[in-house]
Amino acid sequence: MLSRRCALRWSIRLPADCAGSCALSLIRPARYDRGVRIDILSLFPGMFRGPFDESIMGRARQAGRIDISLHNIRDYAEGRHQVTDDYGFGGGPGMVMKPQPIFDAVAAVRAMDAEAGRVVLLTPQGRTLTQAIVRELATLPRLILLCGHYEGVDERVRERLVDDEISIGDYVVSGGEIAAIVLVDAVARELPGVVGSPASLVEESHASGLLEYPQYTRPAAFRGMEVPAILLSGHHGEVAKWRRRQSLLRTALRRPDMLARASITAAERAWLAQALATRETVAASEDEHTDQAPHSGPRRPPAIE
Ligand code: ADE
Repeated sequence: MLSRRCALRWSIRLPADCAGSCALSLIRPARYDRGVRIDILSLFPGMFRGPFDESIMGRARQAGRIDISLHNIRDYAEGRHQVTDDYGFGGGPGMVMKPQPIFDAVAAVRAMDAEAGRVVLLTPQGRTLTQAIVRELATLPRLILLCGHYEGVDERVRERLVDDEISIGDYVVSGGEIAAIVLVDAVARELPGVVGSPASLVEESHASGLLEYPQYTRPAAFRGMEVPAILLSGHHGEVAKWRRRQSLLRTALRRPDMLARASITAAERAWLAQALATRETVAASEDEHTDQAPHSGPRRPPAIE
């Protein structure tokens, strides 16, 4: 019969023939003979059930390139009731995750592999996840992801156990599980053989430090909206130039902070300045005609041509 811990890992659909092992096979990067191992420590391992079965992560799993194991922190809590949280000292709302179950869970999970791994706490207080951080994590042989919940974890966990703290953005989600799913997916995409075409990794937003150019598919004309003619021309050089310019323009309009860090030639900078100036002139005259103030809140970004 499966142990309780093992049964939890089975709950994220292990291959039918893996009765002796609780590890979920996902991705194995070429640069590590033994592949990347990701251990996830959580109070709610059931939350990982769907996401690891579908799409990229599902494919990666089938390709057998990563080993993911889920561990229920509650299994390591002492006492008859296996309590994992308690009121915070000093008062205040909400509960805090107790140190004992986490310390024991990390020690036990660590001992499951000779590679110590990096213990990463998912928390809104961590460094904000970027593609550069994703790439860094994708080179490590082992990650131990600790999913925070409630008002957070006892500070002694941060001080003594945690090597790295990661946030998926400046907002709060219901727990570190959601953040861990985002992180694992992003790391999986960086591993060799997981995304079909390596070119799509290079061209997608953030990979090059710019946002991706606009994409179109058939039909070429849809309800009066035409695909830019250059994309139908068959001139690969011109298409590449158009795409690069669209990336520059789109990044300048939506994420000027990224543009400041991107590597751009002097000629591209000059073209961009001109394109932005032209847009401003056009937008001002349109506002005059329609007697509308320029939009400042959420809106569909202006069409880029
Ligand atoms: N837990 C709650 N919100 C989070 C966030 N933004 N990033 C990581 N973990 C979280």
